[in-house]
This record gives sequence, structure tokens and C-alpha cells, in this order.
Amino acid sequence: MWGGCFNQDTASSLAEINASINIDKRMFKEDIDASKIYAKALMMADVINGDDYKLIIDGLQEVKSEWENGTILICPKDEDIHSVNERRLRELIGEAADRLHTGRSRNDQVATDVRLWMLNNIPQLLNLTAGLIEVMIDSSEKNIDVLMPGYTHLKRAQPVRWSHFILSHAWYLRDDADLLKVFLKRTAVLPLGSGALAGNPFPIDRRAMAKELGFLDITMNSMNAVGNRDFIAEFLFWCSLCGTHLSRLSEDLIIFNTDEFGFVSVSQQFSTGSSLLPQKRNPDGLELCRSAAAQFIGNSTGFLATLKSLPSTYNKDLQIDKKMLFESFDLMSKTLEVLIGTVQTLIIDAKRCFAALNVGQLTTRLTYWLVKRGLPFRQAHHVAGRAFAIAEEKNTSIDLLSEEDRLNICDLLGDDLSEVWNFEAAVEELETSGGTAYSSVMEQIDLLKKWLQSEIKE
Ligand code: ARG
Repeated sequence: MWGGCFNQDTASSLAEINASINIDKRMFKEDIDASKIYAKALMMADVINGDDYKLIIDGLQEVKSEWENGTILICPKDEDIHSVNERRLRELIGEAADRLHTGRSRNDQVATDVRLWMLNNIPQLLNLTAGLIEVMIDSSEKNIDVLMPGYTHLKRAQPVRWSHFILSHAWYLRDDADLLKVFLKRTAVLPLGSGALAGNPFPIDRRAMAKELGFLDITMNSMNAVGNRDFIAEFLFWCSLCGTHLSRLSEDLIIFNTDEFGFVSVSQQFSTGSSLLPQKRNPDGLELCRSAAAQFIGNSTGFLATLKSLPSTYNKDLQIDKKMLFESFDLMSKTLEVLIGTVQTLIIDAKRCFAALNVGQLTTRLTYWLVKRGLPFRQAHHVAGRAFAIAEEKNTSIDLLSEEDRLNICDLLGDDLSEVWNFEAAVEELETSGGTAYSSVMEQIDLLKKWLQSEIKE
């Protein structure tokens, strides 16, 4: 492919690290599809004739079938997917194959193939992300009456619905999906026709190629086009951010699955056992989903480190892009699949959730009760705090304080407080949009369903 000016063989050590075929063969289809479109552009520009064009198209189709059937042979000198496809095409159709690469470089070719691969495959991640949102909606509908403590600093804070908790994670994923769609649009810009770095001397119609390959636009600077991998950096960042969200979800569920909490049980399908401790069922799936974020962040920062200070246009350093891309893509697919299954089969123990509520978590409600009777919030906060502390000193709970104790703190506490100590009412009080009351949880479910309809199932 490039041996003309060489009279010595490549050292085997270099050949070994130079070859990327075992990784980039995954783009065989995209490489062939882009080559077909390029051949067409060459024919339209009168660079190749109709006979050669037909030979090339049929030959490329044959090469594609060999990949699909698993009969293609990779030779020791094949560096990458582009070399294999071109070598095999020549074996099949002879000299016409030598015209296919006219004006093209592997630099604009690989940048095109990898963008095309992402456009073809990343929508799967969008669907999986939506799938996880769907099982969360399902869980929130089925468990709408389950109340549990909401936490800040991992300390029990206020009662919330299970549905509100699980949907709090769904909203992260909604934002992730929206962001991924933006990144996908930014990926759909065609570099083909940029040559090695300076452009293409033949009158090929780049916009026509873009249209046929499903790209939205073409790159406008060939030097930028062959050296730009921002779309991969963006995708790796996306995996880091979404992976971070998934790790927080995993951690919450791991905590709730402990014997101490017991709010949920991870199903047996998504647990594994211990080789020594016969009674153990461990949430290994969630732990692996929690740790996946570390690998996403590693790939994202690792790839930025590759790009940093790289000279303009193409440099072989860039070849690592596909390893990181495929690794993150595969891990993200599996992580989302495991989380979908885990949430779908999660057993929620409504009694344990409710039992973790105690009247101490209604101290905020007492504050609001006082505010509604005219006490300024800061003072109400202080009064409720005093009542809580005195109950604690007396080794009782705030709802059992004697009338005398209450009146010592504040006159208003002399009234009947029984309506304050009601968890259901405490939750229902928070009915502004975005709160945990039934109506606002239903509003969230409705909005998320509408979003799924319009943004995912287009
Ligand atoms: N396998 C290479 C890569 O993935 C293709 C581009 C090679 N270009 C070159 N000038 N050596 O980046």
C-alpha cells in the first residue's frame, strides 16, 4: 500500500504496534459503504469510468459478504481495515481496484469510517438509556404509595415517595440522552474528500456523498477534518458523565440493598454468590456498574491526554481513538443492560421503607405548621429544633412531648399537633411542581413519557 519508497522491511516490533486491524475490523461495513460512495463520486467526476465503477461496487459487495460470512482472510501485512478491504478488492477485481483510492487518503477515510460507525451504533445507547428510564417509570408507577426517608448527607431528612427517589435518577438520564443527541449531530459532519491533509484535486461532490451516507454537513477545512477527533472526545466525556450518573444510582441501590437498610432486594438474576459464605447474595452487578465510571473517566481523560499538544492534522497517535471508543461503547451498553434488568427485577420492601420513617423527620413539617400560624420561618425553625432537642434529652420522641414542655418552648405548641405527625400528609404537602406529592410525581411521569414519545420513538 505504501511500499514504493522503501527497500527495507518494517521491523516486526513496529509492525506489531502499528497494526490496528484487530480493533478496527469492527468498522468493515462502514469502510465498504464509504468506499462505495467515494467510487460513485469518482465516477460522477469522470475520474473512473462506468465499467470500473461497476467492478468496484460488485467487488466491494463481495468483500462485505466475506466479512459477514467470516470467510475473509487477514494477511500478516494487513495493517488495518482499509488495507484489508483494498487488498482483497484487488485480488477479486484486479486493476480497477487501484483506482478507488484516487485523491483519498486513509486519513480522511478513517475519520469518515469512525464517524459513520458512531452514527450507526450510538443510537443503540440512546435506546438503552431510554429503556432504563422506562423501567424507572414502571417502578415509580407500581410503587407510588411506598414512602421512605429521603436523605441528605446519608442522614434521614424528610419522607419522600420511592417513586420520587427513583425518578430523580431518571431525570439525569433524560439529560444524558438529550446531550447524546446533540453530540450525534456534531458527529454527522463528513471529512471524506479532504485527502491526506490539503484537500482533493478531483471535482467530487462532497455534499452528495454526505447526503448518501446520512451525514448532515461536510467539514470545511481539510487540515481540521483529518486531525479532528473532538467527536470522540465528546462521546468519551458523555460516557463519563452518564457513567457517573449510573454509578450514583448503583451506589444508592447497593446501600438500600444492605441488611441494615433492607429497602430493596436485588433479584437473584442480578446477584452472585460467595465461594465460602453459603448464605451470601451479593449485588456484584451494581458494584460493576458503579465501577464502570472509573473506566469511562480513564478513557476520556486518557484520550484528551492523547490529543493534548498533538501537532496539526493526522498523527498516528490518533489510532488509539477506536480502542477507547469501542471499549467505552461496549461497557456502556452492558452497564445499561445490567441496570435495566436490575431495576426491572428489583424487589421493593414497602414495610421496611416505611419503618425507616420516624417522627423526627417531621420536624420540618412542624416548622411549616408554625409558619402557617404566623411565626416567621427562622423563629419557627428554632422552635421546632428546640422541641426536637428537648424530646431527645428526655429520651422520647417529638410527638410525645408533654403539653407543659411544649408550652415552655412556644405558646403555639399548646395547640393540638396530632395532624403534624402524619407521614402521608407530610409528603402530600410538597405538591409544588418538582416535589414528592402524588400529583407532582404523576406530573413527572407524564412529562417523561411524553419525552420518550417525542424524542426517542420518533
Ligand atoms: N489505522 C489508521 C488509524 O486508525 C488509519 C490511518 C492511517 N494513516 C496514516 N497516515 N498512517 O488511524
